[in-house]
Amino acid sequence: MDFTLSEEQLMIQQAAKDFAQNELLPGVIERDETQTFPWELVQKMGELGFMGMMVNEKYGGSGLGTLSYVLAMEELSKIDASASVMVSVNNSLVCWGLETYGTEEQKEKYLTRLATGEIIGAFCLSEPEAGSDATSQKTTAIDKGDHYLLNGTKNWITNGNIAEVYLVIARTDREKGHRGINALIVEKGMEGFDIGPKENKLGIRGSDTHSLMFNDVKVPKENRIGEDGFGFKFAMKTLAGGRIGIAAQALGIAAGAYELALKYSKERKAFGTEIANHQAIAFKLADMHTKIQAARNLVYQSAWDKDNGNDYTLSGAMAKLYASEVAMETAIEAVQIHGGNGFVKDYHVERFMRDAKITQIYEGTSEIQKIVISRSILTD
Ligand code: CAA
Repeated sequence: MDFTLSEEQLMIQQAAKDFAQNELLPGVIERDETQTFPWELVQKMGELGFMGMMVNEKYGGSGLGTLSYVLAMEELSKIDASASVMVSVNNSLVCWGLETYGTEEQKEKYLTRLATGEIIGAFCLSEPEAGSDATSQKTTAIDKGDHYLLNGTKNWITNGNIAEVYLVIARTDREKGHRGINALIVEKGMEGFDIGPKENKLGIRGSDTHSLMFNDVKVPKENRIGEDGFGFKFAMKTLAGGRIGIAAQALGIAAGAYELALKYSKERKAFGTEIANHQAIAFKLADMHTKIQAARNLVYQSAWDKDNGNDYTLSGAMAKLYASEVAMETAIEAVQIHGGNGFVKDYHVERFMRDAKITQIYEGTSEIQKIVISRSILTD
């Protein structure tokens, strides 16, 4: 594997870094406090091509590979993980799912607008009683001939209120187990579709997380993705790639926290010298740097697997598992290195610590990644 970045990849990385510094950094603390994210920033990310990075240009996307996508994700996440989760869900769950498994009509109608950032999408799998155990879907999509009648509740949905298009996983036939589940495209404003209040979260507070309620929503048959009963596999295949995006987000959180800790340790003095000169701090920085590089290698490898047509379920799960652990550890150590200053919001690292936690939970908890990894190595 040669991870020397091409001119194009370096340009994308730089564009994401500049955008993060110039547009995301101002106001990031206020957005975290007020749990807001202005739509203008989503539009700007769309204009830069970040909302449909891997989508073919004929559908309005940037036509880039997964490696370019993770480079952008890392840079955005170094500053604002709330922004990057919106990018990740739209790119790897919604756009990728539609482009790979949608019909031509679905792509024309939805993907072209999602890939440019004109609108954004949400991926709706989790339920009050079906988080990790994703086959236990209680939401039903009953076949009524020319449409499905959708009923149920979805929880913790990223982009819950700002999205226009929702990919909803629901059960059509209980007898058939996971083969009785479908994935449906639901539009905001469909009769019987209601959005619950915004969740008041520990981290990624700028991102828009809601419950969704479906009460006799009529979803046209042409909005089903794939064959009847393909919904669970659709969710699993989509999440396998989504996990690479979240791994890159975790990597960015770790790298962002580390960079702040490194800078601070060269400025802050204690016992007559910069704290970086104390081995207690220098060793922490050495550990952080090593683990971040190891996480980066796993993230790049899983992106490379996806770009080269290899199976990426295992490498994506390993990348997410490890990078999210490194994000959490690094952010905690960055707060420690900042001492009292680390505990106040102006220094950013406490936000990284809160934001890091969700990377160990969403798109499959660390425990779920270990199920995926152990099943893979035990069946090989
Ligand atoms: N690719 C293709 N097919 C897959 C697959 C994959 N990666 N993983 C499983 N499948 C298939 C299996 O082959 C099987 O099909 P067959 O019977 O035809 O062989 C079928 O799916 C069922 O698989 P399992 O028997 O392995 O199912 P399980 O009940 O044991 O569950 C699991 C497996 C890995 C634990 C799964 O339930 C899982 O991933 N859970 C976590 C769900 C998750 O990630 N939720 C996150 C919510 S989305 C989110 O967070 C988005 C956001 O807003 C940020």
